[in-house]
Amino acid sequence: MPMITKTVKIDENNIDETLIKEAGEIIKRGGLVAFPTETVYGLGGDALNPESSKKIYAAKGRPSDNPLIVHIYRIEDLYEIVEEVSDNAKKVMDAFWPGPLTMIFKKKDKVPFETTGGLDTVAVRFPIHPTAMAFIEASGGFVAAPSANISGRPSPTLAKYVCEDLDGRVDMIIDGGNIPIGLESTIVDMTGEKPMILRPGFVSKEMLEEVLGEVCVDPTILDANSTERPKAPGMRYRHYAPKADMVIVRGDSDRVVAKIKEMGQNKECTVLCVSEHVNEFAGMKVKDVGSEKDYNEIAASLYRVLRECDDENTALILSESFSDKGIGAAVMNRLIKAAGHKIIDV
Ligand code: TXA
Ligand code: MG
Repeated sequence: MPMITKTVKIDENNIDETLIKEAGEIIKRGGLVAFPTETVYGLGGDALNPESSKKIYAAKGRPSDNPLIVHIYRIEDLYEIVEEVSDNAKKVMDAFWPGPLTMIFKKKDKVPFETTGGLDTVAVRFPIHPTAMAFIEASGGFVAAPSANISGRPSPTLAKYVCEDLDGRVDMIIDGGNIPIGLESTIVDMTGEKPMILRPGFVSKEMLEEVLGEVCVDPTILDANSTERPKAPGMRYRHYAPKADMVIVRGDSDRVVAKIKEMGQNKECTVLCVSEHVNEFAGMKVKDVGSEKDYNEIAASLYRVLRECDDENTALILSESFSDKGIGAAVMNRLIKAAGHKIIDV
């Protein structure tokens, strides 16, 4: 049954307490609210209410074996929902919470299996976006939230894309304007012997290693052709994908430019490239993803650019490959998924 969705604007620098309270009440009575975070927009429901989690899966069209992240607004609440917080986890919390980082812990019974997709572990995140923090507090402290897109589409970094996907499927959408980071949080599994990155994000492997020493990475993330199951169930699905066919061309930059030009000849296509290369593709339709000197800019624009290609009914996207250092690892992870692993090496 379609519902009426109320859309409201909240300025993170001047939070409207009445609207936040209204949003919190919706969550407390089992409804759904989409809200901004520093990474991407989230689709929130009460994490401790199994019915709310079921509604989230239905609204997103997401398989219910793909667990949700529980969002908190203060550290002490972590201890309410997880069994054990290791010394390593404490170090990570000290360094990166609040912020764009999610950790996996053994869950307490209080967290329903509906929220964790049947797992006995739970993913927890403490975001730093002021509107998200106020909203989580008003909601009772535990908000389950996947990215606020229909399953399989790029995560939304602008409220208009949340509306496009979720209008009529949630009770409220909080428009918080543009999202600063633009890629989902780093996920680190703290339940094993060594911390392991299950999804790369703004908090890079290098940053985590400064705090923890050695950190492993789920091997399925590094090897595009791996047949092993990723440890984060969500990484199994074709994700982040535009409607267009998409191919990444990888290699020395002169050869990449030449190959993209050759592939795009006499074809309707859109090229994704760094600012520095825009002029190389004269005569072709080009989207500038940002300067190669600023990977944060590339991260912040990637999902928007993919959505724009959808809006323009692009049939073929030809993308340059980017560096995989630092946040570049997260950019390349999403780019490769968006392309359904279609990469040409030149
Ligand atoms: O930045 C973010 O993390 C955003 C914002 C809204 O906070 N949320 C987000 O949620 O990206 P979602 O549902 O789109 O992605 C959650 C990922 C999925 O790949 C899921 O499989 C994984 O986290 N995950 C959740 N709980 C897990 C668990 N217990 N063990 C392993 N992976 C888990
Ligand atoms: Mg998602």
